[in-house]
Amino acid sequence: MIRVGLLGCGNIGHIIAKNRGNFEITALYDIIFDKARELADISGGVPYDDFDSFVMQDFDYVIEAASVKAVRLYGEKVLRNKKNLIVMSVGALGDVEYRKDLVGIAREYGMKIHIPSGAITGLDNLKAGQIAKIESLLLKTTKSPASLGITTDKKVLVFRGKANECIKEFPKNVNVSVALSLAAGMDAEVELWADPAVERNIHEIFLSAEFGDIYIRVNNVQSPDNPATSYLAALSILTLLNNLENPLVVGT
Ligand SMILES: NC(=O)c1ccc[n+]([C@@H]2O[C@H](COP(=O)([O-])OP(=O)(O)OC[C@H]3O[C@@H](n4cnc5c(N)ncnc54)[C@H](O)[C@@H]3O)[C@@H](O)[C@H]2O)c1
Repeated sequence: MIRVGLLGCGNIGHIIAKNRGNFEITALYDIIFDKARELADISGGVPYDDFDSFVMQDFDYVIEAASVKAVRLYGEKVLRNKKNLIVMSVGALGDVEYRKDLVGIAREYGMKIHIPSGAITGLDNLKAGQIAKIESLLLKTTKSPASLGITTDKKVLVFRGKANECIKEFPKNVNVSVALSLAAGMDAEVELWADPAVERNIHEIFLSAEFGDIYIRVNNVQSPDNPATSYLAALSILTLLNNLENPLVVGT
C-alpha cells in the first residue's frame, strides 16, 4: 500500500480522498485546518495544523493539490524529508531557477518529482520534442469568465504570450501550459480566452515539429466544487498512483 500525505484539502483533495485504491492517506495539511480535519474524517488520516509536523510523518509521497505558492513554500522541505512530490500546481516550476534548485534537491535526496498530466493529454509523446526539433507549440485555453475571475458578456482574449508569463497572471488556471512546456522542452505560446458560452474548460494543443503535426482538443468537465479545475486533473493523480507499482508501463 502506498502511503500518501495530502497537501491541500480542497476540490482535488476531496476527489483523491474519496477514491482511495492502492494508497492510503496517512496525513493531511491545509492552511485552513477545518478542511484538513474534514478530509481526515473521510480518509482516516491524521490532520495537522502545521506543515513541519505534517511532513515529518511516515509516508512516501506528498500530493500537492494546494497552490503555486504552496509549492514554492514547501516543495524543498518535502524532498528534504525524503518524500517524493506529486505536483498539481506545476506553474511553480515555470520559474527556471526554482525548478533547477528543486530538481537538484530531489537528486541529492534520491526523490522524484512527478507532474501528472493534469487537465490535458499528450504529454507522453510531446517529450519527443526534447530529442527532435519542435518548430511551434501553442496552447489555446478557453474557459468561462467565472472560472477566470472576470466578467464579460462576449468572448475575449485575456492573455497572449509565453506560458511562463501567463502562469504569473493566472496561477489557478494555466498550470497545464507549464506542464506542456516542461514535457516539450520549450516555453509554449499561450492564448487564454474567456467565453461566456462555454460550460467546459477547453484546451487545444497545436504542435508542428520535425516528426509531424499534432492537434489535440480536450473538452473538460469542470469539477462540481471548483469550475477552474477540470475533473480529469484529479483523475490524473489517481491514475498516476494506480500505475506507480505496475510493472507494465504504458506510454513514454
Ligand atoms: N496541473 C493541472 O492540470 C491542474 C488542473 C487543475 C488544478 N490544478 C491546480 O491544483 C491546485 C488545487 O486545485 P483545487 O481545484 O483542488 O483547488 P481548491 O482551491 O479547491 O483547493 C486548494 C486547497 O489548498 C489549500 N491551500 C492553498 N494554499 C495553501 C498553502 N499555502 N498551504 C496549505 N494549503 C493551502 C486551500 O485552503 C484549499 O483547501 C491549484 O493550484 C490548481 O490550480 C492543476
